[in-house]
Amino acid sequence: MSAEFPVARPRRLRRTPAMRRMVAGTRLHAADLILPMFVKEGLSEPSPVSSMPGVYQHTRDSLRKAAHEAASAGVGGVMLFGIPQAKDARGSAADDPDGILQQALRDVVAEVGDALVVGADTCLDEFTDHGHCGILTEAGEVDNDATLERYASMAVAQAAAGSQLIAPSGMMDGQVGVIRSALDVAGYGNVPILAYSAKYASAFFGPFREAAECAPQFGDRSSHQQDPAGPLEEALREVRLDLAEGADLVMVKPAMSYLDIIRQFRDNVDVPVAAYQVSGEYAMVEAAAANGWVDRDRMIMESLVSIKRAGADLILTYWATEVARRL
Ligand code: PBG
Repeated sequence: MSAEFPVARPRRLRRTPAMRRMVAGTRLHAADLILPMFVKEGLSEPSPVSSMPGVYQHTRDSLRKAAHEAASAGVGGVMLFGIPQAKDARGSAADDPDGILQQALRDVVAEVGDALVVGADTCLDEFTDHGHCGILTEAGEVDNDATLERYASMAVAQAAAGSQLIAPSGMMDGQVGVIRSALDVAGYGNVPILAYSAKYASAFFGPFREAAECAPQFGDRSSHQQDPAGPLEEALREVRLDLAEGADLVMVKPAMSYLDIIRQFRDNVDVPVAAYQVSGEYAMVEAAAANGWVDRDRMIMESLVSIKRAGADLILTYWATEVARRL
């Protein structure tokens, strides 16, 4: 190589797989991954979610088995979503000690012990007959403070059933503080809260609504979830409030269209930052791969590396078990 060519040659570090591996700046670990799982009351067979190939609504038995597989693969945690048989306006099954989510929490904790962290989503939309995340006023709006009482009761029921992580996802103002004090009063001061701090009113939640049977019967969630085009500092405001109210970990959701918000969190908070690679992100890749348009496995890894590189310490992903096995 003659001296008239540039001396700086970044390509030296890209030549071989071993060199690239050695200098990698972003590494995924199985323990960073959290698997969201669905369990439905009264099912006799696991039921495939058509918009999320490879994802199932589980029976209590198949849920245990899938949680066991996640633990064997080294996944860091699981996050349970429950679908009750009977729904009503206040989501009564959500805080029933024998409700499906509480039963499933006890099952999974008994199955996996301490091998991974077992948590649950704390929101009412799977449990209400109208599909909204809280109690409605006469006018059909979500009533913030009436909903907070329900979340507090739900969180305590989950902790009593063994949940090791309470994850309020409803975006009510003050939800973290109310849940924190309810847990403390009930003797669950050691149970941490993973706050969905910046959660956007996103079209990427589409397939989840089928999986969790929680599509709103009218209207949408724009009165409480953040506007994708909202003020730039809004997410920061939300996360600061959640931390002041006692959040132990914070989350951005969805992930891929909000990588800037993940970075904003990582640069501004001193607790672990999680990101939720949501149902629509999963479905896009699976659908394109099923058509033979993309390299599925590479796309999955690249999407996860991007989320980590943006600053997420933890990633909720429906591919958690598969990816953990591959790492
Ligand atoms: C609310 C909740 C939702 C998701 C997780 N928790 C749906 C919503 O806000 O409408 C979406 C997750 C996904 O799309 O994968 N309980």
